[in-house]
Amino acid sequence: MEKNKIVDDHTINYHIRAQKGLINDPNGLIYFKDKYHVFFQWNPEGTTHENKHWGHAVSDDLVNWSYLKPALSPDNWYDKNGCYSGSAIEKDGKLYIFYTGNVKKAQGERESYQCLAVSKDGIHFEKHGPLFEHPGDYTAHVRDPKVWKGNESYWMVLGAQTQDLKGTAIIYSSKDLLSWDFQGELTDEPSDFGYMWECPDLLRLNKKDVFVFSPQGIEAKGTLYQNIFQTGYMLGHFENGRFTPEIKEFNEMDRGFEFYAPQSFEDDQGRTLVFGWMGAMPPKQEAAVPTVKDGWIHHLSLPREIMFVKNQLIQKPVDELKKLRIQSYDMLKDISKKDNVLFTTSEQEITCKWDTCASSFTWTLRNEIDLRYEASERKFTIERTNWLDSTRETRTVYLKETLSSLQLFLEDSAMEVFLNDGREVFSLRYFNNERTDSWTWLNKDWLSNLSQFMIFEL
Ligand code: FRU
Repeated sequence: MEKNKIVDDHTINYHIRAQKGLINDPNGLIYFKDKYHVFFQWNPEGTTHENKHWGHAVSDDLVNWSYLKPALSPDNWYDKNGCYSGSAIEKDGKLYIFYTGNVKKAQGERESYQCLAVSKDGIHFEKHGPLFEHPGDYTAHVRDPKVWKGNESYWMVLGAQTQDLKGTAIIYSSKDLLSWDFQGELTDEPSDFGYMWECPDLLRLNKKDVFVFSPQGIEAKGTLYQNIFQTGYMLGHFENGRFTPEIKEFNEMDRGFEFYAPQSFEDDQGRTLVFGWMGAMPPKQEAAVPTVKDGWIHHLSLPREIMFVKNQLIQKPVDELKKLRIQSYDMLKDISKKDNVLFTTSEQEITCKWDTCASSFTWTLRNEIDLRYEASERKFTIERTNWLDSTRETRTVYLKETLSSLQLFLEDSAMEVFLNDGREVFSLRYFNNERTDSWTWLNKDWLSNLSQFMIFEL
């Protein structure tokens, strides 16, 4: 495949990224008129969180993306401080996008407006302005409308904050996408869970409903909730505007350091796909991301297909990503002879499968990231260097089953790891000063059980 690579430092080549400026949440994901559309929060002018536009990328195949002019710019009184996150839906051949207009007043108070814009071609949008005012029981932190079509009406769920500063989600219904009726709070659970819920989403998988949201203000607990903000889901049942959890457990969707504000959509093949933002991090750490000096920061995750199988949520990189493979190596053949492998490109996909299950191992990639598996506890850990203060830091998951497969996507400064066919996922950035593509294994015993070890250069 011909590739038009960008060659700045710590570059990102096959994820949707900021070409310049800053990107954050994926927005308005939809398959519309034979193309995948991914909009995203974008500050085209700088690497700070202001001046948010809706950037726009389109693709025929989820692999090759073209970047178009921004779909929305913050140029009206009701969105002058940012066209914040939202979603898309098709009706009568037109594309409707719902987003939050963010307005900051002189004294720093905020106003937010849930807005509509409509397009015939999916490229040029006409703004229709604010749709409704939300009830006074909530602060101005009401945002991120996610709209979908139910059996009898359309639904819109929004992240919100109650007047006593608790995170929640509120829901509206509509017959025509234009006039909306408040229906109350989506769910009572989990109660008292953070000060704000961002980017709520409801996925309907295999007769199971999954409520995904990104709460802020959750304290770390053991190996859980280690990031600045979390993203997770609850399994349950959605009916008449209410979500009732089956199990009152908030499950983190991704165990890595950087994954936030995901959004789902259903494509023309009936798959539920998700993109997330691989960038939520503490402000000082964000300002220290080495690409800032080149005028850009952040990217999205790869598209993942979401399934619900045997009571488990599964996230798999979409099959189309196989198109990225340009060269393959069967490492199983000669790996036992080598301590060290060298590649020419830093973009790789690695797949490992174990015959029975993996034994314990530590695998150091690029002199920087440790992947560690402790078989007796089924404990999988990723360790990296925090680029702000050079400390080593870890994220860990205790697997439900023993480790039997690993699929890893590497870019120059990012990595996504799918364990046991997508039962657990880790996403992260990493920045090493001196790039090297060499690897070492601290303990080579694990290699003996391997039944597959392929490396694909991408
Ligand atoms: C999540 C978020 C959203 C908001 C957007 C602003 O990362 O804070 O709640 O709409 O980003 O860019």
